[in-house]
Amino acid sequence: MTTEVKEESAEVADKPEQEKSFFARGALLGLAGGAVAAILVISVFGSVVSLFDDLFGSGEEAAAPAEELTGEALLISTGANLATTNGCIGCHSVNGLDGTGPTWTGLAARVDEEYLRRAILDPNADIAEGFTEGVMPVTYADTLSDEDVDALVAYIQSL
Ligand code: HEC
Repeated sequence: MTTEVKEESAEVADKPEQEKSFFARGALLGLAGGAVAAILVISVFGSVVSLFDDLFGSGEEAAAPAEELTGEALLISTGANLATTNGCIGCHSVNGLDGTGPTWTGLAARVDEEYLRRAILDPNADIAEGFTEGVMPVTYADTLSDEDVDALVAYIQSL
């Protein structure tokens, strides 16, 4: 008899413990739920902010400096500009069609760098087939710097 009573009272004593842990679990779940909700709110807020950025633009992209050319790419682009400012392209095309002068397209595949330099600085030293002497100005040796000639040659070689 006495043992039965002891067991019963032990059961009663356990109950509050079980309830406590039940509440503790509930509180933990609540916390976890709160954290998930907070993360959701933050991420929704983040996407709203970035949507506004997309719609109205922060202007940061536009302010970024243009990518600068260096090395060979810079030389070629300088050469292309010089071909325009010195009037070369009035006689030489880069589309494969001959004009007053032969096209530059594919020229570098047939001749070497020395030939190109000579053709610019002393045009009458070699006369391209099908063309006549004395048409291309002979003044470039005086007006172009060594760097200009390097750039023009690099440009013609890139075509
Ligand atoms: C008024 C027209 C004219 C202008 C301007 C001119 N050229 Fe020419 N160029 C010619 C003619 C015509 C030839 C072909 C005769 C010869 O080889 O000299 C020629 C030949 C060349 C050749 C050799 C082409 C080949 O197929 O062998 C090169 C390279 C060349 N020119 C570069 C230039 C450069 C660089 C400039 C500008 C700095 C320039 N030329 C300006 C008319 C011109």
